[in-house]
Amino acid sequence: MIIAVDGPAASGKGTVAKALARHYNLPHLDTGLLYRAVAATVRRLELDPSKEADAVAACDFDELTLADPVLRSDEVGQLASLVSAHPLVRAALLARQKRFAHQPGGAVLDGRDIGTVIAPDADAKLFVKATPQIRAKRRHAELQSHGSTVSFDRVLADIRARDQRDASRSTAPLAMADDAALLDTSFLSIEASVERAIQLVEGQRARNKVNKL
Ligand code: CDP
Ligand code: CDP
Repeated sequence: MIIAVDGPAASGKGTVAKALARHYNLPHLDTGLLYRAVAATVRRLELDPSKEADAVAACDFDELTLADPVLRSDEVGQLASLVSAHPLVRAALLARQKRFAHQPGGAVLDGRDIGTVIAPDADAKLFVKATPQIRAKRRHAELQSHGSTVSFDRVLADIRARDQRDASRSTAPLAMADDAALLDTSFLSIEASVERAIQLVEGQRARNKVNKL
């Protein structure tokens, strides 16, 4: 079973994807981490994120980078959104994600283009959203708990800028797949979001079974 979870920054897609992976006993991949690792590598090597060739060179990042806490920072998130707009960067990371999604037994992946590009054949697709204000509040609290002193207004502005860039790029923009179920977590607790996500996945599996008859 392949489960695709997409949505904008701090919508709750990672939380939901992890819980679904636990519930169905499937491996999970946070694909945003791959773009964040490219971004952190661009920064470390002092490359130019606006140059496609520079960003592509960083796609061959050291696997240890994936565990670097710096990946969580807002700056790396912004930089990830810049480098991820280059079609050749997306192409360089495509096979790895497709392989993960299509491994025997299935997987849960979360990102921006899982239901549309990485696994259009997924058995269940969720598109997770929440208002920009609520997402900024969540991300701000998260950054503060990791010692950051960034302001709420700054986080909100960054989230809006990233939403805009991710949704308007020409290759694999952030978009809800036609056959995805919408999960608005704005006014849901984590527990309620997870419960609703499982219900939606079960609904999609039941629908798939009927369609196969
Ligand atoms: O956790 P958050 O939603 O803030 O960010 P993320 O999922 O780690 O993604 C960071 C950036 O990587 C996003 O703003 C996107 O530009 C990019 N990304 C992407 O283009 N495609 C994906 N499948 C995942 C992330
Ligand atoms: O992966 P994404 O960036 O979409 O979001 P996340 O990392 O799953 O969630 C961002 C923050 O919001 C985390 O600190 C979650 O614990 C929190 N959250 C929440 O407060 N309420 C929800 N219904 C979902 C997530």
